[in-house]
Amino acid sequence: MVSIKILALTAVISTTTTALSLPLVGAFDTIKGQSLFNLPGNDNKPIPGDSPMSVCDASEPQLLELKSLTISPNPPLRGENMTISAVAYLSKDIAEGAYVEVDVFYGYIKLLHQTYDLCEQIGEVDMECPLKAGEYTIIKQVAIPDQVPPGKYVVNARAFTEEDDYITCLSATVVFPVALL
Ligand SMILES: *[C@@H]1O[C@H](CO)[C@@H](O)[C@H](O)[C@H]1NC(C)=O
Repeated sequence: MVSIKILALTAVISTTTTALSLPLVGAFDTIKGQSLFNLPGNDNKPIPGDSPMSVCDASEPQLLELKSLTISPNPPLRGENMTISAVAYLSKDIAEGAYVEVDVFYGYIKLLHQTYDLCEQIGEVDMECPLKAGEYTIIKQVAIPDQVPPGKYVVNARAFTEEDDYITCLSATVVFPVALL
């Protein structure tokens, strides 16, 4: 199978925040399984600002409160840069050992399930652990590759502390239209 670079929304949580960024998760050759169930979308709460993201599992207490989240352009465009701006409030310090579980759906197919070390990921937004409780502002520019296959992507990212306290649950839906040639 041709290896396809897939655009994934990676939740980068910074002390600050968890900013959702759109790094290229990488090439993978196999579709890791299908799931018609367990799709994100229930119990979601909108986030102030202009973005395709929402808070999921919103009825569960979470340590990170996203006060605003804006991406520009919205929706993101393949082959263009996207700027993410977030303001978030973290109610508790976050230490090494925190992790993020990311699920990426392409249409109804579960394309990816991966666990990331949160403290490694926040290096992407120039932050480091331990993250102190408080308010954070994050601005990050991300390049979106133009090899991303057109279609509908749903990304769910759930972050937890080492002790399994819920840091945040973020969900994003992005549609890359087929280019009109
Ligand atoms: C994206 O940003 C980088 C770095 O700022 C820049 O070199 C590049 O030209 C930009 N790409 C587009 C398509 O604007």
